[in-house]
Amino acid sequence: MQDLDKLQSEALAAVAAASTLDQLDAARVAALGKKGSITGLMKSLGGMGPDERRAAGAALNAARDRIEGALAAAKAGLETKALDERLSRERLDVTLPSRPEAMGRIHPISQVMDEMAAIFAQMGFDVAEGPDIEDDFHNFNALNIPPEHPARQMHDTFYFGEKADGGRHLLRTHTSPVQIRTMLANKPPIRIIAPGRTYRCDSDMTHTPMFHQIEGLVIDEVTHMGHLKGCLLEFVRAFFEVDDVPVRFRPSFFPFTEPSAEVDIGCSREGGELKIGPGAGWLEIGGSGMVHPNVLRNCGIDPDRYQGFAFGMGVERMAMLKYGIPDLRTFFDSDLRWLKHYGFVPLDVPTLAGGLTR
Ligand code: PHE
Repeated sequence: MQDLDKLQSEALAAVAAASTLDQLDAARVAALGKKGSITGLMKSLGGMGPDERRAAGAALNAARDRIEGALAAAKAGLETKALDERLSRERLDVTLPSRPEAMGRIHPISQVMDEMAAIFAQMGFDVAEGPDIEDDFHNFNALNIPPEHPARQMHDTFYFGEKADGGRHLLRTHTSPVQIRTMLANKPPIRIIAPGRTYRCDSDMTHTPMFHQIEGLVIDEVTHMGHLKGCLLEFVRAFFEVDDVPVRFRPSFFPFTEPSAEVDIGCSREGGELKIGPGAGWLEIGGSGMVHPNVLRNCGIDPDRYQGFAFGMGVERMAMLKYGIPDLRTFFDSDLRWLKHYGFVPLDVPTLAGGLTR
């Protein structure tokens, strides 16, 4: 019994030192288990006289109670600690989106071309394409722009070397050569749009050497200027999602259309912010006109039987106006922050039914 104090403090020290439930249980067994140190002393009670046993028994019971109390407290502490650890390990942020964040964005140029295609598709237009590398014939001659024509100077053309037949390859300066390719390959009625890249040797604040246009071409037996106006009016209203955009046709000149008109839309400026709709200002969005008889003839179409209209618009310009993008050159900087800001979520495909813009 002289050992009791020592055994008790050893047992309490072991309890205090236990940092896991297993270690704590080992401390319990070492003191209070079948072969434990305190249990051993309990067994010695039998060999004592009644008085001695009473005193020793009371002391042993007190020691056992103290150790059991320490065990219970330590167990509760370790269990709380284990639960806290598990909770922090298994922590779930329920405010996170249920799926991984969609990566990547659709470039505003692609978005706007898709929007335009959706609108024109509704009006019955097919999408046609032509090559970026064209030749004099499709880009100029067939469009009623002969070699000495002053309009050629207006197109700052990137030329390649001479072809075997004396003609030249070039980067198309507009999408109008797709008109020629379409009319050569198809019989009227024709109703197509042709979005795509175009190139001019020009680079400053408002011009980039590569840019995008969308061409439109309608050829039929009864097509007239009223159809052209109605078509573009309808398009502009659908595209800008504004019901009362004023559209103005300003007399102009293109060798491949007669008469020709530049297309302006109405706008206003509110505190420096441009708004498409009725207002004091006008913005040019493209060229248009009735297809010139020479162009029809160049494509083997009888101008006495067929007429049609054509138009061409700048895609960057339309994107800038619709989405408030201030600087043309940023379109081609490949800056991911810009794309994240102005880009579109890939699966939000523009449709007239589902909404062009979200
Ligand atoms: N191709 C002309 C341009 O690039 C635009 C245009 C297309 C004008 C069709 C009339 C008809 O400026």
